[in-house]
Amino acid sequence: MNLLLINGPNLNLLGQREPSFYGTTTLVDIEQQLRAKAEAEGVSLDCFQSNFEGALIDRIQESMGVVSGILINAGAFTHTSIALRDALLGSAIPYVELHLSNTYSREPFRQNSYLADHAVGVITGFGAFSYLLALDGLMAYLRRTQSA
Ligand code: DQA
Repeated sequence: MNLLLINGPNLNLLGQREPSFYGTTTLVDIEQQLRAKAEAEGVSLDCFQSNFEGALIDRIQESMGVVSGILINAGAFTHTSIALRDALLGSAIPYVELHLSNTYSREPFRQNSYLADHAVGVITGFGAFSYLLALDGLMAYLRRTQSA
C-alpha cells in the first residue's frame, strides 16, 4: 500500500503559526510520526507540502496509478479550490480530508469544504493527532475495500 500525505499552504509554518489553533508541533515532526506509524503497519508513505495550488494539483495527477490513498490537509484551499477538488475527483484516488483545528468552530467561511463530500471521511479538530487518526481511517478503508 502506497500512501501520500499532502499539506497545502502555510502548513510549512506549523509550530510557529497561530499555536492557539494549530499547536506547537512542526510539520517535520508530524511527518516523522506519520512515517513511523505507516512503517509499523507495513505501509509506504510519501509526504508533500506546497504553498502553490498548481503544485498540489500536479502532485495529485502524478499519483495516479502509483498511490492507493491520499491524506490531505489542503489548508485554506479546502474552502476555495474547485481546481483541487477536480484534481482529486479526476484522479479517482480515495482520500481523507483532515484539519488540525475544528473548522466548524471557527469563521463561517471555514465551514465550507470543496473536498469533504467525496472524501472517504473527514477528521477535524484533534491537532497533530488528526493526522494519525486520518492515517488509521484511510488504512482501514483501503484494507476493507481492497480485500473485498
Ligand atoms: C486548517 C484549517 C484551514 O481553515 C486553514 O486555512 C489552515 C489550516 C487546519 O488544519 O486546521 O490553513 O486546514
